[in-house]
Amino acid sequence: NANQMWGGRFAEGPDAIMEAINASIGFDQRLAAQDIAGSRAHAAMLAAQGIISNSDAEAIREGLLTILSEIEQGRFTFSTALEDIHMNVEARLKEVIGEPAGRLHTGRSRNDQVATDFRLWVRDQADAAIEGLKALMCALLVQAGTGAEWVMPGFTHLQTAQPVTWGHHMMAYVEMFGRDLSRFTDARARMNESPLGAAALAGTSFPIDRHMTAEALGFARPCANSLDAVSDRDFALEFLAASSICAMHLSRFAEELVIWSSAQFRFVALSDRFSTGSSIMPQKKNPDAAELIRAKIGRIFGANVALMTVMKGLPLAYSKDMQEDKEQVFDAADNLMLALAAMTGMVGDMQANVPVLEAAAGAGFSTATDLADWLVRVLGMPFRDAHHVTGSLVAVAEGKGCDLPELSLADMQAVEPRITEEVFGVLGVHNSVASRVSYGGTAPEQVKQQVAAWQERLS
Ligand code: ARG
Repeated sequence: NANQMWGGRFAEGPDAIMEAINASIGFDQRLAAQDIAGSRAHAAMLAAQGIISNSDAEAIREGLLTILSEIEQGRFTFSTALEDIHMNVEARLKEVIGEPAGRLHTGRSRNDQVATDFRLWVRDQADAAIEGLKALMCALLVQAGTGAEWVMPGFTHLQTAQPVTWGHHMMAYVEMFGRDLSRFTDARARMNESPLGAAALAGTSFPIDRHMTAEALGFARPCANSLDAVSDRDFALEFLAASSICAMHLSRFAEELVIWSSAQFRFVALSDRFSTGSSIMPQKKNPDAAELIRAKIGRIFGANVALMTVMKGLPLAYSKDMQEDKEQVFDAADNLMLALAAMTGMVGDMQANVPVLEAAAGAGFSTATDLADWLVRVLGMPFRDAHHVTGSLVAVAEGKGCDLPELSLADMQAVEPRITEEVFGVLGVHNSVASRVSYGGTAPEQVKQQVAAWQERLS
């Protein structure tokens, strides 16, 4: 009972433990559709090149389509003894069409086969990530367009810094997710080369046409070096790296939503659809979706580190270690898509609490920089002196327990006699944000330009 695919030189079958550590069918059955697409392209090419007969190629094609529908309908029995998806499909093909099944593996190895299947799978996930990011960015653009004029506190060190607009804050995330989108787009273009026909590692003596199979599978070209083709997992690592950075952005935003939805901040109300209650505290509405997004990011970082570690010590070409690539990428991709979809849903439903945002925007001496700028602009003070004078005024306000706009002109003139009534014009939060008209600044007119530019880019 040696293996029917490779057991010619084996007298004994594998130990049960060997089967358990060796078999990948438990997870790589997710590559079934890609495996069958790769085999169809390979068989068609073998026939076109006169390596197998047209009738064998036709039998293989029909058999593979039968198997695909069996798998899609859940009627396929996967076998651990057959190790992986490649041998499960091929063994079933033999049952379905008989002898021609044995000709399919001509000029091919499982090494180029798995590399091809996995690239196709990861390429689809890059496309899914791009679509997911576009949906999220569209939801953010709606928030930004609606709230281009709403003011809120901008923070550094999570301390009130200067007023910003809601739209500006949303557009900051659009920039981040836009870079993620371009990273997935770049990675997709780089991974879009076909390993098929690299065979085990050295290429093959059969007159195969790798350009034909590459084209049939939608690859831009075949991989140029057969050793590299079967030993490279950069495509998966780039996907994980792009996913990790994207996940980090999602996690930062999720963290903000957790803070913003707290009773202490009340900046936003998250929808019931993306919140949960507590089984003991009746008043609770918890931002679980945001928390889980923040948490799931750990799995994506973990997958990136795990696969980097798997790959770092491998001599060329294929080593069985590389079978460990799949579960990491599957899990990371599943969780990234889920996190993107959950974030898109939350952003779409999220209600900004505009009066609370506006009150918070003015608290904490947030227009102190505007005051300092006024001293420079109107009184001609050097900025450093203006900074010092403003600091003294903040100290006076703090002593009186009020905010800057609540100081009297007399209070101000006690610190700097040249200050006039006109200064109060710059201490309001709306004036503050409206004045930040520098390119990329928080002024509503700037934000509206950013929104329009991204709407154009995404359409
Ligand atoms: N299941 C294997 C993997 O996922 C397929 C390639 C096996 N190749 C080999 N020579 N054993 O990597």
